[in-house]
Amino acid sequence: MAQDITVIGTGYVGLVSAVGLSDFGNRVTGVDIDAEKIERLSRGEPVIYELGLEDYLQRNLESGRLTFSTDIRGSISRSDIVFIAVGTPESGDGSADMSFIHHAIEDISHGMNGFTVVVTKSTVPVGTNRWIAEELRKRAPEGKFAVVSNPEFLREGKAVQDFFHPDRLVIGYDTERPEGARARKLMEDVYRALYLIETPIVWCNLETAELIKYASNAFLATKITFINQMANLAEACGADIHAIAKTMGMDGRISPKFLHPGPGYGGSCFPKDTKAIVSTGEEFGVEMSVIREVIRANDAQKVRVAEKIENSLGELRGKTIAVLGLAFKAETDDIRESPAIRIVEHLLDGGAHVRTHDPEAMDNFKSLFGDRLSYHNDPFEAIEGSDCLVILTEWNEFRNLDLTKAKSLMAGNWIVDARNTLDREQAKELGFSYAGIGR
Ligand code: UGA
Repeated sequence: MAQDITVIGTGYVGLVSAVGLSDFGNRVTGVDIDAEKIERLSRGEPVIYELGLEDYLQRNLESGRLTFSTDIRGSISRSDIVFIAVGTPESGDGSADMSFIHHAIEDISHGMNGFTVVVTKSTVPVGTNRWIAEELRKRAPEGKFAVVSNPEFLREGKAVQDFFHPDRLVIGYDTERPEGARARKLMEDVYRALYLIETPIVWCNLETAELIKYASNAFLATKITFINQMANLAEACGADIHAIAKTMGMDGRISPKFLHPGPGYGGSCFPKDTKAIVSTGEEFGVEMSVIREVIRANDAQKVRVAEKIENSLGELRGKTIAVLGLAFKAETDDIRESPAIRIVEHLLDGGAHVRTHDPEAMDNFKSLFGDRLSYHNDPFEAIEGSDCLVILTEWNEFRNLDLTKAKSLMAGNWIVDARNTLDREQAKELGFSYAGIGR
């Protein structure tokens, strides 16, 4: 049976979830305090860049199952299920900032009407869902609500695909209480469409669901950091990290995914979640030394790439450097914790002129760096007159970059390819000095 759902927060997780849940046949209202955003979404404008989202958004608006509103409490009062998908940014001490969650609980406890399932999609520290239940218990009668933890595993740029074809669905609930069992039934209805395509559904308690999310992100961050360090070693001893990663990946226990070396992981999740799990460890008196070291090594990787550019050119002062790729990864305009920030900062500090191009992320980069560097809509315009060409994001359009043209436009002959995207043999044949990662 289709359910009436409110999704609080229309950021990338909330919006993709609202659109996806309505596509599953549920009646969904996406709510937010940002009136302008709500208005644009109601008109079918996706507000974020996410592959496929626009079509799904418009289709579900047209069907009448999906609406957007600023009337948060009104919408909650008409819903059986309320998803919390607000941000939990990093606070000063590395722990997760819970203020948006507090507001959401406030709204839920005032709006709630009849039995309501409160589902946390936001990434929240272990124990948060128990705490949400306690907070609600202070204001609502026992038995009138249930709390569920349903962490998301959406990758930016592939969020729509990940929502409709997840590797697994994790649903944590209070296995000890009757409301928990009632919530489980409702969640089965919400996700019936995924159940029908045989998506594995993991039913567990609240703490397990919360920790699954952190453990997964921290493990992936560790895997990337591991291969980055291995790449640095391969580089030093004359081995080829591509052959190493590929062969390691042939071992089914390892898998070839997330073994691509680069300038370090970035984005809104791995940096924040790794720090949060270290701080959770501290809270429980458990040393998370592996993850602590991953955070340090990932920072060092960004600096290493910056130094590689500097060492290639001898010195940075007065040199012109073309940086292609500013987003933390391809298929997104997101620059949060992007390695490009740290690396470009280093180049500018050293007195270099930096010319940049990114297919999507230039506006965001500009709001951070302003006129300290130049921005070009065409990669070759950025390359013109440069002493060194640097690739920091693995956009497809860089893989096929016309190197002959690049060479003819450049003043120097250095390429630092921090994503190993270019054909290094061809680069060498054309007379470039090529430096990749781990080769
Ligand atoms: C990540 C997880 O992959 C999602 O499952 C999770 O839901 C999400 O965080 C979240 O917690 O919300 P995302 O941050 O969008 O998704 O990006 P990823 O595709 O995982 O990439 C993260 C970073 O690792 C990027 O900077 C990327 O360039 C880097 N990376 C990834 C590598 O350097 N090498 C690799 O082999 C893979």
